[in-house]
Amino acid sequence: MHVLIINGSPRVKQFSNTDKILAKFTEGMCENGTTFEQYEVSDRKQWDDIRKAYYANSNILIALPLYVECIPGLLMEFLETLSPKNDGTRIAYILQSGFAEGVQLRCGEAYLEKLTGYLGCEYAGTLVKGDNFSIRFFEGAQQDRVTGPYTEMGREYAANAGFDTDKCRAFTGFEVMPAHLRLILKVVFRTVGRVMFKKIAVGWGCTKPLDYRPYQ
Ligand SMILES: Cc1cc2nc3c(=O)[nH]c(=O)nc-3n(C[C@H](O)[C@H](O)[C@H](O)COP(=O)(O)O)c2cc1C
Repeated sequence: MHVLIINGSPRVKQFSNTDKILAKFTEGMCENGTTFEQYEVSDRKQWDDIRKAYYANSNILIALPLYVECIPGLLMEFLETLSPKNDGTRIAYILQSGFAEGVQLRCGEAYLEKLTGYLGCEYAGTLVKGDNFSIRFFEGAQQDRVTGPYTEMGREYAANAGFDTDKCRAFTGFEVMPAHLRLILKVVFRTVGRVMFKKIAVGWGCTKPLDYRPYQ
């Protein structure tokens, strides 16, 4: 099987969590001879090539982050340039996000299924998983702890030509965070989290307090 992979993040490849997820995912996907070509919608110069590849390939995987509870605008803009295929092409999706609860990705997931129909293609499922905020802040083994599990999902995808399996469905984790975890997180965010966010902001050149409201 040959797979066309489209990274739908507006972030450039170097800084894209989706790209780091795909690096691990494709390791597993390619173990038994599956091949792929990958493009980034963040690079508008690639759009003509992505379009050509979309019409030429019958297995497509679109990997995208959730942006403001929905699909990134840049990806929508690109998708609107495509025409329906109506030739049995299968499209699967990796939908990933920052917040951990599966429930907040379900609306996007439902839209992706509809989108596949608009494109005249067959829906091959969506791999849904949150809790990916930290990928770009980590390196090496710490980053691998978050991205590593996607390798197994790459194997699943290659074996089933999609994500319609119990293993893939279980990969999401909890739909809603258990109450005791929510309480712990609340405390962590108000203490350690506040210090950490401040440190990150300073590292990015921020000179004002995080709750600075110049227009209030
Ligand atoms: C503008 C913006 C909006 C976002 N909106 C959401 C959101 O609604 N829900 C969520 O869980 N994560 C949200 N995130 C977090 C991203 O989904 C998450 O960090 C993802 O891993 C980014 O992937 P990327 O680096 O490939 O773009 C948002 C991030 C940005 C920059």
